[in-house]
Amino acid sequence: MKILIVCLGNICRSPLAHGILQHLANQENLGWTVHSAGTGNWHVGNPPDRRSVLAARNLGYDIGAQRARHFNISFFEEYDHILVMDRNNFADVLQLAKTQEHQDKVKLFLIDDEVIDPYYDNDLFDPVSRQVELRCKELIKELRK
Ligand code: 4NP
Repeated sequence: MKILIVCLGNICRSPLAHGILQHLANQENLGWTVHSAGTGNWHVGNPPDRRSVLAARNLGYDIGAQRARHFNISFFEEYDHILVMDRNNFADVLQLAKTQEHQDKVKLFLIDDEVIDPYYDNDLFDPVSRQVELRCKELIKELRK
């Protein structure tokens, strides 16, 4: 199974979910591939924000090797699930979907809720990371069924 996590910049939120979900899936030998991308292209090729790298490290995950990518419409074919961090991401991605099948792959990462963008508030990185980790653990159970 291939899972794509999407946020705006692909340097704060989605790298956390990408790294944590891939790590947990590997631990369970699920054979999943997890990637991430941003709806914006400003940070393409850059590593995750150092505050996300640090927050992930505090929880025992290494996300430092990731590099930001821009969402591309070919990803609708490539991935089985496209999980987005907030409703703006949802609208931006859905707008690019050309078929019902592609639209159906797009869901909020949280259940009917958004992951707050921590970019402008240093204090949000640790709570966001813990929230993302909790949801990743749930997703392992939900999606392996
Ligand atoms: P992300 O956070 O979408 O969680 O990666 C952001 C990163 C960068 C910007 C906005 C949000 N930015 O405006 O550059």
